[in-house]
Amino acid sequence: MPATLSVPLSARGGVDSFEMLFSQLNSPALQMFGDFLALLGILILGKFTITTIWDILVGVRALMWSRLWKKNFEKRYGGKWAVVTGCTDGIGKAYCHELAKDGLSIVLISRSLEKLNSVAEEIKSLYKVDTAIIQADFSEGRSLYSRIKEQLAGKEIGVLINNVGVMIPYPKLYEEITEEEIWRHINVNMGSVAAMMSIIMPQMLARGKGAVVNIASIAAYGPMPMLSIYAASKAFVEFLSRAVACDYFMRRGITVQTVTPCYVSTNMTSFSKYTHSTNLFIPTPAQFAASAVSSIGYTDYTTGYWTHGIQKWFVHFLPRPVFMWAMFLQQKFLRSTVKTTHRN
Ligand SMILES: NC(=O)c1ccc[n+]([C@@H]2O[C@H](COP(=O)([O-])OP(=O)(O)OC[C@H]3O[C@@H](n4cnc5c(N)ncnc54)[C@H](OP(=O)(O)O)[C@@H]3O)[C@@H](O)[C@H]2O)c1
Repeated sequence: MPATLSVPLSARGGVDSFEMLFSQLNSPALQMFGDFLALLGILILGKFTITTIWDILVGVRALMWSRLWKKNFEKRYGGKWAVVTGCTDGIGKAYCHELAKDGLSIVLISRSLEKLNSVAEEIKSLYKVDTAIIQADFSEGRSLYSRIKEQLAGKEIGVLINNVGVMIPYPKLYEEITEEEIWRHINVNMGSVAAMMSIIMPQMLARGKGAVVNIASIAAYGPMPMLSIYAASKAFVEFLSRAVACDYFMRRGITVQTVTPCYVSTNMTSFSKYTHSTNLFIPTPAQFAASAVSSIGYTDYTTGYWTHGIQKWFVHFLPRPVFMWAMFLQQKFLRSTVKTTHRN
């Protein structure tokens, strides 16, 4: 029936609710539109419910259930050695402790020889495992890797942790970032991950066993004002790592895990008390690594820590422009709290 209104609304004394308006506009087209909206609502709610339940189940399995079980990475990943880059401080050092606790021997790769020797000794005496050190400055770029490859020759490597990373000392506008800082992000954050995977993965693939863990960051979730070069370099890590995980999806012995932490209390976050003081949302490196290492083999994509998972879940509701503005305001605030020792 065509939509007709026999009496003008004003003549009936008007309408005082949408319900009344819709009942008066008794049109099949409107009826269909209403049905369409109801269907859309059911689909959106259904998708939201299913993905939320799925995220919770994956999170609980990877970050809680996994911690109840003893790990045997050597047997599972077919090599006695774990290689950890950027291992003398923060998250990298904590990963070394967790992996050594599980019985793996550790190849430590970092810049400072003194710190390398001290961490190697500490791990050897605490966990009675072998250690080897490779002094390397990843900001050197391509020329470095033939030497690393030579020094790793002959070692059965079960686990590779691509952890090394640098960040500008505090949030900066792009014009304030130096050329040296730009190249350091490219060579250390991006180059090291791509190159170390290509050196170590062939032996894992030949064996059919091995785990690679690439540490990206929540900063890669979207373009990040005032941390532009850092966030972009971490987006590279995330994209590369997730694509490589997909390359070997069918190889059941091979794990390529991407980890996207929020703030962890380390040297990198020491520029402001708001990013450095530990609390429920900012774990110590040891708390973080205990959780993240347990998740290896349980999920290919994780924040590594349960409260970080919750933060990411909330962030993903924000439309991108809102996310970017919120981050701009957050970084601007953090910049205003930068400790004087971090200003250069
Ligand atoms: N902390 C956080 O809140 C956070 C959040 C998300 C993601 N992440 C990521 O987690 C990883 C570890 O961060 P972190 O906070 O533990 O950093 P950190 O405390 O600053 O430690 C960095 C480690 O890397 C080494 N390193 C730095 N530059 C190097 C270079 N050019 N060549 C070789 N080694 C180098 C350092 O040792 P030497 O000084 O001896 O070389 C140190 O052992 C990074 O990839 C970072 O982006 C951190």
